[in-house]
Amino acid sequence: MTAHDSSTSQDLELTSFDGLRVGVFDSGLGGLSMVEALRHQLPGAGMDYVADSGHAPYGERDDRYILGRCHQITQRLLDRGADLIVVACNTATAVAIRDLRQTWPGVPFIGVEPGIKPAITVSPQGRIGVLATPMTLSSQKFRDLIDAHAQGVHLVLQPCPGLAAEIEKGALDTPALRTLVDRFCAPMTVDQVDTVVLGCTHYPLVRPLFEDALPASVQILDTSGAVARHARRLAQVIHAHGVNARDTSDSLRLWTTGDPLHLQEVARRWLSQPSLTAQPL
Ligand code: DGL
Repeated sequence: MTAHDSSTSQDLELTSFDGLRVGVFDSGLGGLSMVEALRHQLPGAGMDYVADSGHAPYGERDDRYILGRCHQITQRLLDRGADLIVVACNTATAVAIRDLRQTWPGVPFIGVEPGIKPAITVSPQGRIGVLATPMTLSSQKFRDLIDAHAQGVHLVLQPCPGLAAEIEKGALDTPALRTLVDRFCAPMTVDQVDTVVLGCTHYPLVRPLFEDALPASVQILDTSGAVARHARRLAQVIHAHGVNARDTSDSLRLWTTGDPLHLQEVARRWLSQPSLTAQPL
């Protein structure tokens, strides 16, 4: 373990997470928006990313189906030595994280949820739009989040059916994508929101389209940075207690239930790493 010289034993800051393996999954390509932030916060850590593209989109599936997928993928990530699992999908988090924690009480899980809390702290007028999958917005977990933190806030909740599936095709800017983004952003402009939350990990991958569709004054938030910082804090604790050390390489390994060449091509482009390869899960 290496540490900054100036650290005290209490706030010991790791500079390398060597030996740690992080398992990350999403219904498909969307979690790649999280991988970048995690790699930045966890230098030296190995990572296995599973894109469940053969079963995407989750946002239009039922709970039972999503739960089953999350259990299977978690087991595969644990088999590959994961010390920590990041559920890089708002939909899967809303539906399954409680169940995953109950099933594997010894495994640390980190989930993602639409960034309502950060939006409230930065919204000048308290007028906030949330774009997410139909499943996320209709989940009990999301309702609980609103009840706990968004009293008195003007919220515009916009389900975006079809958008994650369109992003899943891998192109960043197509007429079909622009049509969908424009359609889902229109109510935000009508309702004069000042802050928009991207509540699905697929959406940051096409952030420039949201910037084009919304007035320039609207702030656009996603939670990848905050989630990665949380992962770093948790990883410090895990590292201090000892890691599985089944695989100590710091490589990023990509797995998919869809087409490996598609994931590989998109990941190389989005993560700017020309040597990445993807394998079937
Ligand atoms: N990326 C996922 C999320 O954050 C969902 C996309 C899907 O519908 O599969 O909600």
